[in-house]
Amino acid sequence: MTQQGTAAITGASSGIGATYAQRLAQRGYDLLLIARDRQRLEQLAAKLAHDYGVSCQVLVADLTRPEELAKVEQRLRDDASISLLVNNAGMSVEGDFLDSDIERVQSMLTLNMLAPTRLAHAAGNAFRARGAGTLINVASVLALVHEQANGAYNASKSFVLTLSRSLTQTLSPHGVQVQAVLPGITRTEIFDRAGQSLDNIPAQMIMEVETLVDAALAGLDLGESVTIPSLERLENWQAFDAARGVLLPDLSLSQSASRYRNGGGNSSQQ
Ligand SMILES: NC(=O)c1ccc[n+]([C@@H]2O[C@H](COP(=O)([O-])OP(=O)(O)OC[C@H]3O[C@@H](n4cnc5c(N)ncnc54)[C@H](OP(=O)(O)O)[C@@H]3O)[C@@H](O)[C@H]2O)c1
Repeated sequence: MTQQGTAAITGASSGIGATYAQRLAQRGYDLLLIARDRQRLEQLAAKLAHDYGVSCQVLVADLTRPEELAKVEQRLRDDASISLLVNNAGMSVEGDFLDSDIERVQSMLTLNMLAPTRLAHAAGNAFRARGAGTLINVASVLALVHEQANGAYNASKSFVLTLSRSLTQTLSPHGVQVQAVLPGITRTEIFDRAGQSLDNIPAQMIMEVETLVDAALAGLDLGESVTIPSLERLENWQAFDAARGVLLPDLSLSQSASRYRNGGGNSSQQ
């Protein structure tokens, strides 16, 4: 076991997850690589073990299947060497929500929400009990966007952002770091898998996956609970979040707002 312990990474067979695997091996973590494609996982594990001298294990699981997800949860509970979890596996669905295949939408919601929730629960409890650990949840900038893409995908990523921020509150007093990462468009297979193409997207909107993961890990090192890799003006995120904070005192009161009293449409302004 290395000093850093083991980083468990879901969706480690390609894209962002495979890049986390390489960068975390470089930082001296042993690895537990999780996804469905055994061959790709084993190839990556062999390469990283060779290149960095760390131990790399593979756990093949389809995280949309309850019994396979449970296997990963159990590993997170039982393996005290696991000090970091990257909740990264995810998928998108092509097209507008109403035009998309609802069965694929259901798989997406299971993978993007249920799986990270159950894995965060298992790892969060293990880390809290040990008073140490790191939980990285890969959301998306679409968590903040209502105007574009498939609304169910965006909503699944809003879910991850909210859960992650809530876990920051719960776990940081126990010495556990929680970070939500919000990538913008990043060049990976996710688009091919959803039958989409990056060809019509302006090059300046597309980040390379190594740039994305390096920024996310730099954000982790800075202690950020939310990292938006391409956002230069951090004060804009802080203002956005502060505006949310301004709403809080008024969100649950015994009395409705004045515009809703006296029948709304019959108010004196009409
Ligand atoms: N690329 C972007 O522009 C972008 C932007 C914002 C957020 N993200 C998020 O980043 C995360 C990683 O995506 P990516 O861009 O790196 O895409 P990717 O290259 O398609 O990688 C997705 C990973 O998830 C795994 N996976 C898919 N279905 C799975 C299942 N049912 N069970 C277990 N593992 C499964 C895949 O491996 P197997 O096929 O081997 O299972 C693969 O390792 C996702 O959560 C995505 O929503 C991506």
